[in-house]
Amino acid sequence: MQNLIEAHNRVKDFDWEPSYASKPDWYPTKYKIPAKTKDPFRHLIRDYLSMEEEKDNRQYGSMEDALARGQVSAKAEPRWMEAMKAALPILNFGEYAAMKNMGQLIETINNAELRQGYLAQMLDEVRHTNQEAYLSRYFARHAADPEGFTQGFKLRGTNIFNRAARAAFEAFFVGDPIEGALNLQVVAETAYTNSIFVALTEIAAANGDQVTPSVFLSIQSDESRHMANGYSTLAAVVSNPDNLPALQIDFDRAFWRQHAFIDSFLSVVWDYFQTNRSFSYLDKWREWIDNDWVGSYIERLAPFGLKVPSTFAAARDRVPWMGHSAAMVGFAAWPLQYWRFDPLTNRDMDWFELKYPGWHGQYGKFWDEYRRRCDPRNGELALSMFPSLPPLCRVCQMPCVFPRPDISTCRIKEFAGKRHAFCTPECELIFDQEPHRYLAYDTFYELFDGYDLADFIVENGLLRADGKTLIAQPWLNQEQMWTIDHIRAARYEIRDPLRQQ
Ligand code: BEZ
Ligand code: FE
Ligand code: FE
Repeated sequence: MQNLIEAHNRVKDFDWEPSYASKPDWYPTKYKIPAKTKDPFRHLIRDYLSMEEEKDNRQYGSMEDALARGQVSAKAEPRWMEAMKAALPILNFGEYAAMKNMGQLIETINNAELRQGYLAQMLDEVRHTNQEAYLSRYFARHAADPEGFTQGFKLRGTNIFNRAARAAFEAFFVGDPIEGALNLQVVAETAYTNSIFVALTEIAAANGDQVTPSVFLSIQSDESRHMANGYSTLAAVVSNPDNLPALQIDFDRAFWRQHAFIDSFLSVVWDYFQTNRSFSYLDKWREWIDNDWVGSYIERLAPFGLKVPSTFAAARDRVPWMGHSAAMVGFAAWPLQYWRFDPLTNRDMDWFELKYPGWHGQYGKFWDEYRRRCDPRNGELALSMFPSLPPLCRVCQMPCVFPRPDISTCRIKEFAGKRHAFCTPECELIFDQEPHRYLAYDTFYELFDGYDLADFIVENGLLRADGKTLIAQPWLNQEQMWTIDHIRAARYEIRDPLRQQ
């Protein structure tokens, strides 16, 4: 065959406009994209497919063979394995949302080079969706406590944190497809996937989980191509100066929407579910997001007219505290979840004080009281530590406790005859830009206001196979587990804090 570049160009000649039908305009974009640009993805589709097949064979083969026989997943640190129950369904939705964005971009952008890249990424994202679903199934068969691994996928619409994940990742495919690409490729993939797939691999391995790394590294090996797609998309957009004003607004919003969920979620998973501790979330955020993503990537686009997101400075100020505030709500709300929590030990608390100076003064009291409330024989729910639940932000769907409950930037306002909470001025501004995008997405409280906690648990299938013990537990103690009877006796009503009366 001819040399690769020639073959590559030939394949792109096959991009066609059908004469038998007009192209549907399902996903209109306001951006103008040149018909020819640099190719982000220098592979022929045939090479690409054999490369990906090889990766799948290696990964699934090793999981079923040596790893299963050695019962490695049953020996992993239980605290860490619980985090995987929470993380996998959330990430899996991110993959699915990424796949949808690629379909929209292929449909929208008349540029053969870019489309080639999007096509391969779409296949990658389908692969990742399957890999993570398979990993959940694998853990449901091989983990020491499998209960919870199969629930997350069913609870995407009704779990308080899954709803926040969806609010962030739906930004990959709701709206202008190029705004979706900014959320996905430029922010989520380029800024955050190292934190998701590489750092979590290290933490998993340090905590005895040898299976997650083989799946996550296989995924991450595709992400560098997705980052290249993002760069090429951006380069195509900035090549036409008419696009710049809209681009900056979309980019500022995309950064904030991804930050609001991903930084809270990842910092809790990293910092609160490690047993064998190493780096903190903040250490890596400063290195990977602040230095690398902003310093070595976004700032270099200034000559082309793109600025660092106006929302970035506010995010940098929030990051040192937001994970701890989110963890407090997450742990206190343990009965709403489908995984077990492991309260911090004194050793953990020393680590927090070392990594986040001032932590103990802000959060120490909560943890002392949380530990006391783990034992069902006391019958006291951690949730009742708070006089009321924190409102949920209409835009990001996260609890309004940021950066810290004592200095919360929560604001509440009336719009279209209803009260809405916003966690920050940034989320409020995003709402004001396009209220219709957020009004139809109910908060968790709007769905379950007035429910008795026990009824919520039963209705959402949050009981173990014995029909009475909760899947979620506030600690890992298997001698003293909470049952539905304990919850009924505690008589806790889920109440929308914005409800007026
Ligand atoms: C991705 O596959 O690109 C992705 C997955 C989850 C969250 C963000 C990005
Ligand atoms: Fe992916
Ligand atoms: Fe990706």
